[in-house]
Amino acid sequence: MRDEQTYPDRQDHEVWEDGSLVVRAEQIDWVPWALPGTWFKLLDYNRNHSWFVFLLKVDPDAPEVTHKHIGAANAYILQGGFSYDKGGVRAGDYFVEAGGISHTPKSDPDGCIMLGFTNGALAGLDEDGSPAGIIDVDWMVEQAKAHGAFGHLEKAVRS
Ligand SMILES: [Fe+2]
Repeated sequence: MRDEQTYPDRQDHEVWEDGSLVVRAEQIDWVPWALPGTWFKLLDYNRNHSWFVFLLKVDPDAPEVTHKHIGAANAYILQGGFSYDKGGVRAGDYFVEAGGISHTPKSDPDGCIMLGFTNGALAGLDEDGSPAGIIDVDWMVEQAKAHGAFGHLEKAVRS
């Protein structure tokens, strides 16, 4: 059972001697993501594998923008939900978006918060299908640093 007596220092992020990382995610501020009405907290990353783990919050009125997955993206939906033309997901669902696909999400009326694991990168697409922007691990790291939301990862050894 977690409590202040058992874990008296649980308010601080930790890097243990064995390399384990503890991120107190509630203490990290939401950082603006690539689109209006979207926010993230970077939890972990690996540049050599172009991989990152993040919390993503999507406001109900976030614009619908088509994107392509360079690699697969996995997500566990924590709150709310969203949909594509083929169907939707809600809190409690685990979702795998296949590498190589393109699609256009629509946030549910109550918005969405998910835990995402992204391989490769996401490419925002213009209406003609051409890339409009790339979100990769470097973009995530630099955006988190620019908004003072990278301190929990400064001491973590990551390649
Ligand atoms: Fe997607």
